[in-house]
Amino acid sequence: MSANQAGAPRPSEIYSDFLIIGSGLAGLYAALYASGFGSVTLLTKSTVEESNSYWAQGGIAAVVDPDDSAWFHIDDTMRAGRGLNNLKAVEVLVNEGRERVIELIEKGMQFDSDETGLELGLEGGHTKRRVLHAGGSSTGREMVKFLIAAVEKNPSIRKYESTGVVELLSDGVSCSGALALGNAFEPILFLAKSTILATGGASALFERTTNPESSTGEGIALAYRAGAAISDMEFVQFHPTAFYNERGASFLITEALRGEGAHLLSGTGERFVYEYSDLGELAPRDIVSRAISIEIERSGKNFVYLDMRHLDSSYLKSRFTNIYEACLAAGVDMTNSLVPVAPAAHYMIGGVKTGLMGETNIKGLFACGEVASTGVHGANRLASNSLLECVVFGKRAVDGALDYDGGGFDSSFRQGSSVAHNPATGELKFFRELKSAATRIMNRSVGIVRSGEGLVAAGHELAAISPLLEKLSGYYKLKMEMILEVCGLITAFSLMREESRGVHIREDFPEEDPSWKKTYSDEKRRGAKARTRRITRRLRKNR
Ligand code: SIN
Repeated sequence: MSANQAGAPRPSEIYSDFLIIGSGLAGLYAALYASGFGSVTLLTKSTVEESNSYWAQGGIAAVVDPDDSAWFHIDDTMRAGRGLNNLKAVEVLVNEGRERVIELIEKGMQFDSDETGLELGLEGGHTKRRVLHAGGSSTGREMVKFLIAAVEKNPSIRKYESTGVVELLSDGVSCSGALALGNAFEPILFLAKSTILATGGASALFERTTNPESSTGEGIALAYRAGAAISDMEFVQFHPTAFYNERGASFLITEALRGEGAHLLSGTGERFVYEYSDLGELAPRDIVSRAISIEIERSGKNFVYLDMRHLDSSYLKSRFTNIYEACLAAGVDMTNSLVPVAPAAHYMIGGVKTGLMGETNIKGLFACGEVASTGVHGANRLASNSLLECVVFGKRAVDGALDYDGGGFDSSFRQGSSVAHNPATGELKFFRELKSAATRIMNRSVGIVRSGEGLVAAGHELAAISPLLEKLSGYYKLKMEMILEVCGLITAFSLMREESRGVHIREDFPEEDPSWKKTYSDEKRRGAKARTRRITRRLRKNR
């Protein structure tokens, strides 16, 4: 059945004060905090356990050591970000981050500690040990589990899993909630005074990724379609060390291992990162990923090695249990063998443009966590600042929503909304084929090292996928359209920035150019209004 077909079921309606879309750390934190002020609906297209936050290993950076100071953390964040960070956002992150982390500990979150106090790890770009971790290198999982347990007990939060948003209810000026499909593809209208996007990143748009396959930037596409400004899309961070094997399957090998002394070796067994930075393996991520990609190019092999053979094996097994076990399952004992690694797409710095209270240019629409682009990370995120971002800006987005009086709430959007998105048999397979084709293009031409020529070619190749979408319908068609839209935004923004800065490396513009010391966004207001008119017409027709 198509969305326009008469007789399609009318969606049921659910109203709450806060609609939170996405259940990673930012969404869970925002839901819990918002529940102190009103009713909350928490939506996720998968399950609450499946998020990028869940897989975060290293930890959460915070100034909790007396030898550290906010100033050092701010300075490290700004240096990693290559001068493009929004200083105010960085100050908020660092100062409020400490408060949020202490609050979490007071509420019972257990970070790893020994008899002397909290154990603090070191990661690339940090001049001090300030990375709190939990469950060894399962910090994301432990934090997410801690918050899920609190969400489950909270009567003000209604949770909907397997519920994918297909559209934000917006006229390009204000937002009144979202239209979603439940687990049997039944339409549901979630109406709310404030809508908070916490949908995570987009790194699964690249063939080699550390993210779950659901990280396809849907939140960015939904907001873009609703008329929200999108910024900094050229900045996609590649993690230097994801496990490499010929089958392409990959998993993250935390930077904290390099903090504990692991070395990167070339195919001929040399340490090579010092050629690029005096900080060696503990240089910021953009430098290490770049060094690895040059080494890969030079050697003709697809990977370099991470060497931990000189480190204490029982310490490695207890502190990095999940990584030890994952490597072992892939046939490598990291305590006595070299581990093949190569960079993989890891974190989307760009996204929905927000102010410091999570506010977007659409009234009633807020964003926090990886989907948001506050400018806090500049051109390259400092390691372990992302979980911190989730709790700091998760709270702030709710505070921003509280300050908003719901003036934009327009219940007329719900009148007559009617969709049916049941996919036809076989569509999932074809959807996956098209998605893989797009991720291969992104990895090859919009990856770590880019060129104008490659980006233009990528644009054409992505465009050539569009006509094939005619073979899809309903939900999978929409998902694939959104994937192509976000791939297109990353490609277009990358083409526009004619310099190399942080994670954005152009071989045709290899230097940082002071005239590019600015960020930019793409406000699609007119496009959004035209689209809204189309949606409104369609809704009226179905009434
Ligand atoms: C890691 O553990 O290396 C990843 C942490 C992060 O992305 O900040």
